[in-house]
Amino acid sequence: MAQIEQQGSITVATYMDEVAATYYAQGQVFGKEGDFVTAPEISQIFGELVGLWCVTAWQALGQPRHFNLVECGPGRGTLMTDVLRTVWDVAPEFARAASLHLIERSPSLREQQRQNLAPYEIDWHDNLSSLPAGQVIIFGNEFLDALPISQFVKTPAGWCERLVTCDTSGLKFDVSPLPDTAIDDTFDDAPDGSILERSEAVENVTSELAVLCTARPGVALLIDYGHTITDVGDTLQAVKKHAFHPVLDTPGEADLTAHVDFAAVGQVARSQGASVHGPVEQGQWLNRLGARVRETQLADGKSAADAALIRSGIRRLIDPDKMGRMFKVIAIGPTGSPPLSGFTADVDL
Ligand SMILES: C[S@@+](CC[C@H](N)C(=O)[O-])C[C@H]1O[C@@H](n2cnc3c(N)ncnc32)[C@H](O)[C@@H]1O
Repeated sequence: MAQIEQQGSITVATYMDEVAATYYAQGQVFGKEGDFVTAPEISQIFGELVGLWCVTAWQALGQPRHFNLVECGPGRGTLMTDVLRTVWDVAPEFARAASLHLIERSPSLREQQRQNLAPYEIDWHDNLSSLPAGQVIIFGNEFLDALPISQFVKTPAGWCERLVTCDTSGLKFDVSPLPDTAIDDTFDDAPDGSILERSEAVENVTSELAVLCTARPGVALLIDYGHTITDVGDTLQAVKKHAFHPVLDTPGEADLTAHVDFAAVGQVARSQGASVHGPVEQGQWLNRLGARVRETQLADGKSAADAALIRSGIRRLIDPDKMGRMFKVIAIGPTGSPPLSGFTADVDL
């Protein structure tokens, strides 16, 4: 990588950012033919329930007559397609009030989204800062896990930043010569070699979302894989052709992600005065929003093979030993907002 040749080494965060830009620029990464499959690509019920959730959030916001419906990291546009089909069906007044915005920095994915979402009128943005004025309903699935993280390695001298460098055999990890004094002492008892992760990018996006949710006001729904308690551990991973891949091999050819620290997300959003709902497990959240009812409706009248496909798709998203527990859902709302759908046991649709 050019930057490593020039500078000798780069941080893990810089490495991730560079790799993600190259990786998503190629576009053909989703589905069976690509490297990984996401929830909206597994079952249409996922996007339908996200759409219903957006309608209930819009009602909680007082049914604004104009608002921005925003998706962060839309991939091929499958989730937004299912959301829009659903809202035009169940709440056309919501759909008419929405102007559509996608946060996407990959030109080739923007092109796929344009094709898949035709004929909807859509505005694209590199980040949240260019959204037009107005209330917001924002959602993102597997967006935060793609953002860069920094890693710190416990050494006898303290927490030193993990770096990526190279020698004649290729890329390899290294550590900064001096410890980072900004790391607090919470995990100072961890054994040498332990890894601590922080994501300034996730914190910045969360902070921006929280400011939008309190000021406009609005709501944001984030779904991702990750943990609810901050701890030490190395979660950086690469996936290529549906299998784990060494994170420093063939940079830009595998999907590089890290677990989302939902405790940090909640803390940052609260520090901006926003209300935080969850995190709850994805399986629980989908069940509370009516996944079983929709599964039965959708399978009704289908051939045995098609019904089995519908059931296995939604089971994969809900079952605790599949994606149901590993994936979590968190929502950010205006200061003091009452519970949102799916986040309390007694809010069932
Ligand atoms: C794992 S994909 C998720 C796709 C989609 N949400 C789904 O569920 O199928 C990550 C998405 O986030 C976008 N993305 C990653 N990093 C980004 C960044 N820094 N700014 C804007 N978009 C980014 C990628 O281009 C891609 O669309």
